[in-house]
Amino acid sequence: MQRRALIVGNWKMNGLIAPSLLLATEIQHHFTANLPRYRGCDVVLCPPFTALHALHQLRESNEACWQLGAQNLSVESHGAHTGEICGAMLRDVGCQYVLVGHSERRTLYGETDQLVAQKVFSALRNQLWPIVCLGENLVERQQGHTLTVLQRQLEVVLSSLIEAHTSSDQLASLTLAYEPVWAIGTGHHATAAQVAEVHDRLRQILHQHLPASVADAIRLLYGGSVKPDNASALLTLANVDGGLVGGASLQAADFVAIVDAAVPSES
Ligand code: PGA
Repeated sequence: MQRRALIVGNWKMNGLIAPSLLLATEIQHHFTANLPRYRGCDVVLCPPFTALHALHQLRESNEACWQLGAQNLSVESHGAHTGEICGAMLRDVGCQYVLVGHSERRTLYGETDQLVAQKVFSALRNQLWPIVCLGENLVERQQGHTLTVLQRQLEVVLSSLIEAHTSSDQLASLTLAYEPVWAIGTGHHATAAQVAEVHDRLRQILHQHLPASVADAIRLLYGGSVKPDNASALLTLANVDGGLVGGASLQAADFVAIVDAAVPSES
């Protein structure tokens, strides 16, 4: 099945409003100048919360060919939750996508598989498309537990969605991002063989739990030290539908080169 390529820039906690606007504008200029090439792919920028509104305005005033995503959301919908941002607020500020369960949220802020599943619900309730991050740490890989860990992380999310009778359309709006923790921000990306093994297994698990049309529609991204020089080898593998890019998404030229590597020029 043909899935649209999806490249996501995760800016993490980098960028005040002015430099964020500059970066988005540079990226946009490149896409606008080569519009037909990018019709077949989705590009999403995930700036810090504080830059979302400015980027939303930039999008609206320029018919941008990228979409806006947030890096996190609350499981709550309103009320006394100091410091939290709910899904409706993200929609209000122009977000279409939201990252859920990034490994930095899991390791630094104690997010469990169960909390990640609740956040996926919150996203879907607010018509946001969740990008669910999964990944093993170095010890888990070295001990041969990679596939077991990923299966656990994914099945907690899938079973709660299935139990709640989530519609096929909503399920198909999920994206999974395989991000080995040892590859994030380290410059050590997974090999093509490691990525292929994991992505094939993730697709298999999806097929075990979901109708074939839904399992085939869900996009699988790779993330972890994706750079212009490795993007083509990693992002064009059979079961890889794009990438989640951290460090390299902070330089317009690098990010655009990664998008170019993931999107064949004839599309
Ligand atoms: P990186 O980060 O590209 O800097 O490794 C990826 C991510 O954390 O999403």
